[in-house]
Amino acid sequence: MPQKKIDFLKAFVFVAMLAASSAALAQTADQAWLRYTGHTARVLYPRDVRALGTGAIEASAVQELQRNLGDLATGPAHSFSARAWGGLGGQTVVGTAEEVRKAFPDLPVPADLEPDGFWIYSAPCGDHYNGCGEHNLIVITGGDERGALYGAFALLRFAASANLGKLRPENPWRSHPAFPIRWVDEWDNPDGTIERGYAGRSIFFEGGNVRPDLAPVAEYGRLLASIGINGLNVNNVNAAPQLLDSDHLKQLARVADALRPWGVRLAMSVAIASPQTIGGLSTYDPLDPAVKAWWNAKVDEIYTLIPDFAGFTVKADSEGQPGPSSYSRTPADAANLLAAALAPHGGVVLYRAFVYNHHLDWRDPKADRARAAYDIFHPLDGRFLPNVIIQTKEGPIDFQAQEPVSPLYAGLRQTSQAMELQVTQEYTGQQRHLVYLAPMWKQVLDFDMRVDGAHTLVQRILARKGLARKAFHQPLGGMVAVAGVGRDRWLGSPLALANLYAFGRLAWDPNLSPEQIAAEWTRQTISTDPEVVRTVVKMLMQSWPAYVNYTGPLGMQTLTDITGSHYGPNIESSERNGWGQWHNADKDGVGMDRTVATGTGFAGQYPPEVAKLYESLATTPDELLLFFHHVPYTYRLHSGKTVIQHIYDSHYDGAAQAAEFVRDWSALEGRIKDQSLYEQVRDHLVYQAGHAIVWRDAIVQYFLKLSGIPDEKGRAGHYPGRLEAEDARLTGYKVIDITPWEDASGGKAVSCDEELSDKDKQRSCSAEWTYAGPASHYNIAVQYFDLQGGVAHFTLKINGQPADSWPADATLPSNHPNGDNSTRRTVPNIALKPDDVLRIEGTPDGPDPTALDYIEITPAP
Ligand code: GCU
Repeated sequence: MPQKKIDFLKAFVFVAMLAASSAALAQTADQAWLRYTGHTARVLYPRDVRALGTGAIEASAVQELQRNLGDLATGPAHSFSARAWGGLGGQTVVGTAEEVRKAFPDLPVPADLEPDGFWIYSAPCGDHYNGCGEHNLIVITGGDERGALYGAFALLRFAASANLGKLRPENPWRSHPAFPIRWVDEWDNPDGTIERGYAGRSIFFEGGNVRPDLAPVAEYGRLLASIGINGLNVNNVNAAPQLLDSDHLKQLARVADALRPWGVRLAMSVAIASPQTIGGLSTYDPLDPAVKAWWNAKVDEIYTLIPDFAGFTVKADSEGQPGPSSYSRTPADAANLLAAALAPHGGVVLYRAFVYNHHLDWRDPKADRARAAYDIFHPLDGRFLPNVIIQTKEGPIDFQAQEPVSPLYAGLRQTSQAMELQVTQEYTGQQRHLVYLAPMWKQVLDFDMRVDGAHTLVQRILARKGLARKAFHQPLGGMVAVAGVGRDRWLGSPLALANLYAFGRLAWDPNLSPEQIAAEWTRQTISTDPEVVRTVVKMLMQSWPAYVNYTGPLGMQTLTDITGSHYGPNIESSERNGWGQWHNADKDGVGMDRTVATGTGFAGQYPPEVAKLYESLATTPDELLLFFHHVPYTYRLHSGKTVIQHIYDSHYDGAAQAAEFVRDWSALEGRIKDQSLYEQVRDHLVYQAGHAIVWRDAIVQYFLKLSGIPDEKGRAGHYPGRLEAEDARLTGYKVIDITPWEDASGGKAVSCDEELSDKDKQRSCSAEWTYAGPASHYNIAVQYFDLQGGVAHFTLKINGQPADSWPADATLPSNHPNGDNSTRRTVPNIALKPDDVLRIEGTPDGPDPTALDYIEITPAP
């Protein structure tokens, strides 16, 4: 072959390889739940798909419907039933109500189809439409273009739930969202980091600017549209002011362009001090005319670049962010300033009620962070412009594993409201733990506030105007999720995506059950095999209660490091400081007295019937007891258990449940076609089961020491088969104290962090024990600390023979050994006999000193 041809071939192969590898690296919506190809229950509809209109959103609907049919349009008919294949004739038509009425004057299109709503009609051709022979006609009609797109995605979801047969001419499918505001908030910073994000770097920003490649943003738009999300707030609520400068606004217009074909409108967080910080004014007083003029001009500039801009999110007077209080103005003054600028363009302001003093006096029995939102915003009710929405976190503190519902929802009757929740699992395991949050959100949505003694579900307060049984009749309202998606497969963990999916589905229809949503998601994402669906739904549904059990039960909140990582156990970090996340534990008792009679009075912020329920110990539900009351450890719950025994039991139960998830998932091996998905989930669950033990032991040993009351079941403080590192024969390793002490077994560990000379760099430290139990087969768990930066190595040897060796290569919070990074490796089925020598060798790497807590020898099952 002539040289030239070879070069060409080489170049071709190289380009093809490059294309394949970038395709493999590309971040796409099918890595979440939009995978159609090869789906065993793909929905079939006439393959001639067309839009009646010319807009980009309808074009997206057509593209998506065609994408699903994909290979079916050309592929072999025999893989589908004859009936289904026949159905691929005819036409699938997408359009707005107006367009459909014009094209099909005989169709009974509802006269009052709402914006974002849809109506899907299916008819044998001939009934209403001449020209498609004996085949079907499916008409997807939207109240507007966005509604048509949502209708297309709804039809595609049928694929997974496999009940398309229900769609008949006499039974068209009509649906509309319960809430007009269905937004995701991204807490992304211009430098590419994401506040409280656990899935890599930003898909929007890098190095201070919007990224050149916004393909992942368009894919994210697809994902969001598929679950009916209509707004995306692109930057951190701790807002970088420079994003409002003209250069950055032009860049943000590109993000809006990428999202627009999917009906997702761009919004942004703004800092209330911007007129001063980037505008050069001497003030940001919301009542100052120059400030007003600055915002008006800025908003006009935004709309020239982004005509469908959705609005602003505001965090002010909160956690160090400046706000109207600097000028003795109210949140209403600040919100109305922005709202007045946005109103002529159709934009809205989501003003966050997360306003509180983080320098509270913990010695003051009346001080209470939980009170702040209601105390500040309730007196302002009725003073906000109609395009202001007060955005309130679902609980009064801060996305804890368990909190009561925020009383503010009932405290604003003349103000539109949105509920803020977190898909990103800041306080709920940071995606390393499986925690399906839909059951928690559903509890909040279905909470009955009993306003004026009448049935008042939170979802009815947030609902759109005109919805049946709407409470308070405000024009806007909805749900906002802090999403935290990044470049690492959206949320970093496959099962965590169920939360994003569930958020969208509940924001569309809060009456869906979390089980139903979990099943829908599983069928689309993992498999339609009934055994897989049953198991995954069971795991998802058990995951939140399990997490509450092994972290912070009885309304104590997540007993984590609240001033740092928000991840591992650190019980006292929430006590005796200004942050106000106290649970008030001492040697006699635990819990915050928030009653009106003797406590902070927080319980009195609820409408009277609910206030009465929480005021009394007798009627407060066990799961919120310690949020509302301070009781002795010996206090008996409704369950009949004492508080201390419940603390012990719930932690053992929760950790056992986490271990069960590993068994449940492993039983599905072989049934899940995507082996890499299977393995990723298995690895996550194995890690979680180990970390649940870290949590269990930390909380249990802490409360055992504090209360001095033993566990009735004899478990707390007794660990059969555990051999502590500090009791081993150590070479190189030094005994260290762990902070907080409860994060290590007995408060101590060993660390190989002595100064090593260059020539000694490869040296290891070792810990050795002599086995003294009966001869048998055992699982040997090694509990070690996997620190950031550096890949240390561990080896387990039995009588000098390596039994296992592994890298400590996880990316966990904190660069000190503690409960954030305490990790368990279990080496199964090892034969041991008396006098065998077990040895752990740790080879440090950089800042990771292969710190070791203990080994634990338990009979192999
Ligand atoms: C939490 C979170 C912060 C965030 C804040 C907020 O406190 O840890 O990172 O900025 O909530 O919601 O504003």
